[in-house]
Amino acid sequence: MLSNSLIELDRAHWVHPVASYRGHEKAGVRVLRSAKGATVTDATGRQLIDGFAGLWCVNAGYGHDSIVEAAANQMRELPYATGYFGLGSEPAIRLAAALAERAPGDLDHVYFTLGGSDAIDSTVRFIRYYQQARGKPQKDQFISIEQGYHGSSTVGAGLTALPVFHAGFGVPYDWQHKIPSHYTYRNPAGSEPAAVIAASLAALRAKVDALGGPERVAAFYCEPIQGSGGVLVPPPGWIKAMRDLCRELDILFVADEVITGFGRTGPLFACEDEGIIPDLMTTAKGLTAGYVPMGAVLMSSNVYNVIADGAGAATIGHGYTYSAHPVSAAVGLEVLRLYEGGLLDNGRKAGRRLMEGLRSLADHPLVGEVRGRGMLAAVELVIDKARKTPLPAASLPAQRIFDRAWNNGLIIRAFGNGVLGFAPPLCCTEAEIDAIVERTRATLDETLADPDVRAAMA
Ligand SMILES: Cc1ncc(COP(=O)(O)O)c(C=O)c1O
Repeated sequence: MLSNSLIELDRAHWVHPVASYRGHEKAGVRVLRSAKGATVTDATGRQLIDGFAGLWCVNAGYGHDSIVEAAANQMRELPYATGYFGLGSEPAIRLAAALAERAPGDLDHVYFTLGGSDAIDSTVRFIRYYQQARGKPQKDQFISIEQGYHGSSTVGAGLTALPVFHAGFGVPYDWQHKIPSHYTYRNPAGSEPAAVIAASLAALRAKVDALGGPERVAAFYCEPIQGSGGVLVPPPGWIKAMRDLCRELDILFVADEVITGFGRTGPLFACEDEGIIPDLMTTAKGLTAGYVPMGAVLMSSNVYNVIADGAGAATIGHGYTYSAHPVSAAVGLEVLRLYEGGLLDNGRKAGRRLMEGLRSLADHPLVGEVRGRGMLAAVELVIDKARKTPLPAASLPAQRIFDRAWNNGLIIRAFGNGVLGFAPPLCCTEAEIDAIVERTRATLDETLADPDVRAAMA
């Protein structure tokens, strides 16, 4: 009864993010009721392992009482404090300092947002301000990468390079440009790391030249691992090479760590994997492990000082009512304590087991590639391994694979092109990782039996 009425209310009133509205109305919502550790329970009592940590955000896992206490205490003490008028709150100040201390290099200045999209949006504002402040207003062109995702704000959706975020929305703008992805499995330059890196470097140089040279280009955006594009992992050396080229060309380098931050790939930030220091870094999701909304832009001392000095006594007009919300900041501090108190270590161990387990699926007839790092992974399905032919659209990969996994007690992300995405909570036990792999195997076997897949393979 209860869940039926919720389904009707949802159908009538809730506009869901990134959904076919009519498709969702037809299918009806699946209501989640509670969660603990890596397991979620739906309104019918069905238990599932959350192999995607919500939306790659519940890195700490569900049900940590200490996080709930931190939020409740802060709500009792001071539920809101603005950062306007020169005011502030203790948790926000402490969280800014804690992030600055842990972030690479001189990323010492933190602007808090409500999530990843407005973090990206804020970088665009800061970067334009920075280029104007240093007397280079003509550096106003932005470059990002095909298959990249940088949020869903109007400006960020234009840096995003997934067609569904563009169609019908009037973006990208004419100052937003793309270069091809490293996507090693399908890169025309081949899969050799050196060739992939050389192709990306050449593409960036060519794009900069085409835009009128470095004097026109403000910034380059990349994710250390492209998440929403299908968990595309660049070869070792790629991000360092791109970072170095941006420095050579005097183009700001923005690392979008909204997914990869906070232990998702192993270290606290994925930039640490290659020891790079971006000019700006965006984070969200794992910052509060999804318990409350929060994101953050970290900027280098150079970027901060050029903006600050350029403005002088003038007000820099960028801010949000809920920037540096004290409850979110209190949660962020507690989540950080949990990460460093063992969750990062567990995530590294669980990540190795996850990658080993998923690699054991490589000989399945449908598996074209298994890729990932730490607790961020993908299995790309094909119907012909030699030709790398994707699953046919008729087999509705996103919907049917998600449904099969769900029925097998597993939540994963099923992308429209037949890529399965994994981002389990860092708290997963060995048994839970093994169950993720086994339930994935069952899901692949059922997909192999799908008449539309069989027909396409014949
Ligand atoms: C790399 C990246 N940047 C930005 C965003 C946008 O974050 P949000 O959904 O919190 O606005 C996302 C969300 O998935 C993301 O993956």
